This record gives sequence, structure tokens and C-alpha cells, in this order.
Amino acid sequence: MTDKETALQPLLISGRVEMRTGNGHLPKLVLTAARSTAEIYLHGAHVTHFQKQNERPLLFMSAQSLFASDKPIRGGVPLIFPWFGPRDGAAAHGFVRTAAWSLVESSVTDNETSVTLELAQAADSAEWPAHRLRYRVIAGETLRLELETANTSLTRELKYEECLHTYFAIGDIHATRITGLQGVHYLDKVDHFTEKTETAPEIAITGETDCVYLNTTSSVTITDPAWRRQIVVEKSDSNSTVVWNPWIAKAKAMADFGDDEYPQMLCVESGNVDGNRLTLAPGANATLALELRSEAF
Ligand code: BG6
Repeated sequence: MTDKETALQPLLISGRVEMRTGNGHLPKLVLTAARSTAEIYLHGAHVTHFQKQNERPLLFMSAQSLFASDKPIRGGVPLIFPWFGPRDGAAAHGFVRTAAWSLVESSVTDNETSVTLELAQAADSAEWPAHRLRYRVIAGETLRLELETANTSLTRELKYEECLHTYFAIGDIHATRITGLQGVHYLDKVDHFTEKTETAPEIAITGETDCVYLNTTSSVTITDPAWRRQIVVEKSDSNSTVVWNPWIAKAKAMADFGDDEYPQMLCVESGNVDGNRLTLAPGANATLALELRSEAF
């Protein structure tokens, strides 16, 4: 056991919050609640698994995912911060999904198990004032995720984008429908970031899809007839929703994603990106929160 893992011991709760060696020898937390289980890697504070009893896993994980301390994990819930998308000379989607987070709190009730991970980032650089991230993961009848950003600088504003990049496991993308975005403006990244308005009451995915919906706080429902399951994404303090599926050519071009995995996944991501990026005054904080519910039909 490493020194860091030894320091975690007092926060572990036998049978409810346990530490295991995950893929790539990276440490992961295993949460057990009354009727669900979850797994979180300290690498990137990455939730890789959530499953209710008698239900299929909620989150898609690529069988081709890398598990290395300098690479993001493919699937689950990557944490995107403080920028969204590619950036010249820097890693796409920011630097926290490959950072080493620390477990700082754990708690249980009869039905729920929760942990809080922290990135005491203290990055006081020309671009990023000092800030601290805390991420609470609550496994129960639903999966709740709360990302708190605190601007710990006393003098500088913190401007950032953030996104909980949830990959949902689905039975078949061809039959899957998404509701909750009708009438919302979006940037179509597959069509040169053209600004469009969503007209469909139910969105079907029929090809590569990469849409950034802006100024929307609505819940989104994913209906997956193949697995007879509905997933509801409910969010707070989030003004953007991103819908992504790489489809055939992009799946083939991605080294850490299987060529034939695209029909089994759909990303419906919640955050504050692009024109919805946030500004935190010195000393201020903000929390992006999600509740992911699934029901059979
Ligand atoms: C989505 C972006 O959020 O993430 C896509 O809108 C991107 O453009 C996808 O391809 C995956 O990104 P990455 O960096 O994890 O390969």
C-alpha cells in the first residue's frame, strides 16, 4: 500500500466504502449502498460504475479504455474543467480528469453511501487563480454528483468551463430517443459549429452527433427501448447540455474506443460551457449538481 493509500484508511468504512486496486494498478473506491454500487477512481475523480440491484449498469465503459496516470479514462463520468474541448498546446477538456484527487470525507446512511474527493489545486498561475474543487458522489436509489468550485484567490476572478461528461450505457443507439431539448439553441460541432435550434420533440441519433445546447436548465430523458429503460438527467446550476455519439468513422479513429462500441453508448453531458462559462468572484464558490435516475418500463 502506498503512503497515500495508508492515509485514506480512516475514511474507509468496511463493507460500504472500500479501497481496491483498479485497472492499471490505479486505486479505486468501491461504494456499496442498500440497493446500488458505485466505483470511483482517484485518478480524475472518475466515476466508472453505478448499478442498481437487478438493473444493468447505468454507465458505459469502453473495453478499450486506457488506465494510466497521464491519460483520461474512456467512459463513466470524466470531469471536465476548466475548459471544454480541445485547446492549443494543452490537453483536451482540461487538466482535472487526469489529476490525482484525494478522498477527504465519507459517510453512510441506511440507504446511501457517499464520498467526497478533493483537488486542492492551489494553481496560482498567470491564467488560473488559486481554486479548490470538491466532488461529492452519492450512491443510493439514484446517482448524485456535486462538483463544487471554490475560488480561493483573494484578488482574482476565476473564469471557467465545466462539464460532467456522463457516458450512459444503452441497449441500442438506433432505437434510443432523447427528450427535453426542443426549442433550445445549439452549436452543431459536426457542422462547423453552426448555430441551430432544436426542432425535434424527440431526438434520434442517426450519425455522428456533437451538439452543445446552450441556455438550458431542463432535465433530459433518454428512452432506451432495447433495454426497456428510461434514464432521467436532472441538473442544477447547469446551463449547458452536450449530446455526443462518435458513430462509425470517429469510433474507428479513437484509439481508446472500440470500433463497434458506439451503438451501446450515449453521452448526455451537463455543465456550463462555451457562452455559459462561469465567472467566480474572489472567495466565491458554485456547485454544479446532477441526479441520474433510471427506471424500467
Ligand atoms: C464531447 C465533445 O464532450 O467529448 C466532443 O463535444 C469530443 O467533441 C468528446 O469528441 C470526447 O472528447 P475526448 O477528449 O474525451 O476524446
